[in-house]
Amino acid sequence: MRIDEDDGSSGSLLERGVRRLEWARDHMPVLAGVRERLIREGTLMGVRIGMALHVEAKTGMLALSLEEAGAQVSLASCNPLSTDDSVSVALREHFGLATYACRGETEEDYYSHLNSVLDLAPQVAVDDGGDLVTLLHTTRTDLLDGVWGGCEETTTGIVRLKAMEKDGALKYPVIDVNDAKMKHLFDNRYGTGQSTLEGIMVGTNLLLAGRRMVVAGYGWCGRGIAMRAKGMGARVTVTEVDPVRAIEALLDGMDVAPMDEAIAEADFLVTVTGCSGVVRPEHFRVAKDGIVVASAGHFDIELGLAGLADIAEEERQVRDDVTRYVLADGRRIDVLAQGRLVNLAVGQGHPVEIMDMSFAIQALAVEHIVKNRDTLAPGVHPVPRAIDEMVAWAALEANGVDVDRLTDAQCAYLASWKEGT
Ligand code: ADE
Repeated sequence: MRIDEDDGSSGSLLERGVRRLEWARDHMPVLAGVRERLIREGTLMGVRIGMALHVEAKTGMLALSLEEAGAQVSLASCNPLSTDDSVSVALREHFGLATYACRGETEEDYYSHLNSVLDLAPQVAVDDGGDLVTLLHTTRTDLLDGVWGGCEETTTGIVRLKAMEKDGALKYPVIDVNDAKMKHLFDNRYGTGQSTLEGIMVGTNLLLAGRRMVVAGYGWCGRGIAMRAKGMGARVTVTEVDPVRAIEALLDGMDVAPMDEAIAEADFLVTVTGCSGVVRPEHFRVAKDGIVVASAGHFDIELGLAGLADIAEEERQVRDDVTRYVLADGRRIDVLAQGRLVNLAVGQGHPVEIMDMSFAIQALAVEHIVKNRDTLAPGVHPVPRAIDEMVAWAALEANGVDVDRLTDAQCAYLASWKEGT
């Protein structure tokens, strides 16, 4: 069953959404600690926060946490196909949170929802992928003076923001949540690793063991997908354009090949590069018959689906989330979720414990903007190290794990340069 369907056996959409949010609340202890402190200290009281994130249960908990801490929150989706409708309905109707998102929304509705978020005149703009910040800097420029700052969740958004910064176009400070260690090391690697395989498995119900999976891109997300696919018994080939990452993949035990060679052997192919046109008609023409193709990148630009449609003789739906393209020679190419990020469009997004850490960073980054709004200059700013460490200690505690502390003698040794052989 798809997550946005209501089979009648487990209550209404709204009830299911409330349960999903409560489940997330039960498994997000790090965010809970941040929330309780923010409520106590009142830093966010009355602050207007506009958010464009994937609208599902963990995101809902971030939004509710900020609202419980006194902020006024407005939430839209950052992708037309990633919304969990049960959560969207529950946030709006049960929790009274201004939520504008529905799975499968048209591009027009998508932008109208982002505009509804901006109608709040947010002082803090929390973004995933950079569409909210772009809208603010193009059509809603009248609001820019009132924005204290923003946060960006993902690699794709950071790439766009850095391009804006380089052009001198970025008008407010943005905290680069993606590059916090407690975000990308775990969210991008273990989160994307697990949720992408979940999306592929739920979408196809096919076996991974013994099959060849091509992973295009060996950044943190690609490393996670490749590692988990290998763990499931798949034989993994990595494609890369960066020679260092290609060597890393090789030494991690992956096969490495260019796309035209890799795709010819592939049972599954997943792109996670952040770049457009990774798989093109010349690749599809030599793909293995029956290949399952998906993307876990933020935008649906990695698989050249328009090019595939051009060379296909036939296109039809063969499962809920699978579109089959048949080429002139009879070769079948099965595309998951229209090339949209498979881990959220088919799967349920990253595991709760992963988003607990990522969204604790987000909440602390919002607090950082509010507290430092008078001194932060426009531009992209790293997450302060103290925030990363705070979340790491809280996550260790949540996992029931303690670690050693340096002794005074060890601190003195590390601070000195005279001691040697
Ligand atoms: N759930 C909420 N935001 C997410 C993201 N950026 N990636 C995966 N799962 C998510």
